[in-house]
Amino acid sequence: MNRTIEAIKHHMGPSKPTPAPGANKRPATRSGTFAIGGDIRVHRLGFGAMQLTGPGVWGEPADRAQAIAVLRRAVELGINLIDTADSYGPYVSEELIREALHPYPKGLVIATKAGLARTGPSRWVPLGRPEYLRQECEMSLRRLGVQRIDLFQLHRIDPKVPAEDQFGVLRDLQKEGKVRYVGLSEVNVAEIEAARRIVPIATVQNQYNLAYRHSEDVLDYCTGENMGFIPWFPLATGDLAKPGGALARIARRLGAKPAQVALAWLLKKSPVMLPIPGTSR
Ligand SMILES: NC(=O)c1ccc[n+]([C@@H]2O[C@H](COP(=O)([O-])OP(=O)(O)OC[C@H]3O[C@@H](n4cnc5c(N)ncnc54)[C@H](OP(=O)(O)O)[C@@H]3O)[C@@H](O)[C@H]2O)c1
Repeated sequence: MNRTIEAIKHHMGPSKPTPAPGANKRPATRSGTFAIGGDIRVHRLGFGAMQLTGPGVWGEPADRAQAIAVLRRAVELGINLIDTADSYGPYVSEELIREALHPYPKGLVIATKAGLARTGPSRWVPLGRPEYLRQECEMSLRRLGVQRIDLFQLHRIDPKVPAEDQFGVLRDLQKEGKVRYVGLSEVNVAEIEAARRIVPIATVQNQYNLAYRHSEDVLDYCTGENMGFIPWFPLATGDLAKPGGALARIARRLGAKPAQVALAWLLKKSPVMLPIPGTSR
């Protein structure tokens, strides 16, 4: 246990880092920065906007005013990378973001996705037909109220549609100026390389956290290529944040909260790591 704590302390760096000016009010700025596509610089700790919708990521939140307040607070705390998708709600998460934050503050990056149809609460069906991906890009532009989507991610590669057709429409949307950078989600290294032969890939979003590391090889690849790696479920959907959970003892010894340990571990793991923890409140 002591070796584990020492390792985490080492990874977390000095226990009392000198805060950047204003960092106490905007703590997300302490996570460092990463330039998506080598170009759009964001604070590495982002926010995932999936939990803002109704149960099963379906429909309106129980408390709409609270969802709006959460988004505004995230930005106040220094977050300038918000992850969402057409399928969260569907549409509800993007609509909330627009209502809460439009006109967007300078430097705020909204990353959205397409490629999953919703047939009901907790139901997700890959749908990668090029005309559907194009429609969802157009609808996200309209809902978010932007001329161009900073980061447009293919939510899943649809096995029923040739992958090159899915990557091809992303390339076309980028060429047309509707999308600035393209990302992928739940992919392996061979799929990233296949996509890169057709369109430049700026980020990869795979499930990854301290307790679930199946994408270690993808993370290494992204680190080597300076490609953003966005770990979804960074808190194991809350399990790693629990007061009595797996990280409770280590957190106590470090004078931190379990969620902070889980996020610090991710941030120290790789300079390309961009965690997007979510909360509804
Ligand atoms: N690409 C994909 O396929 C994919 C799939 C899933 C998610 N995502 C993205 O990843 C983001 C993060 O995923 P996620 O929200 O499911 O997982 P998560 O960030 O690991 O966990 C979020 C959950 O943790 C709880 N939580 C947050 N902070 C906490 C704290 N300090 N103490 C106790 N509980 C806490 C939240 O509950 P409360 O709401 O009660 O605070 C929420 O239920 C999503 O918003 C979405 O943008 C992507």
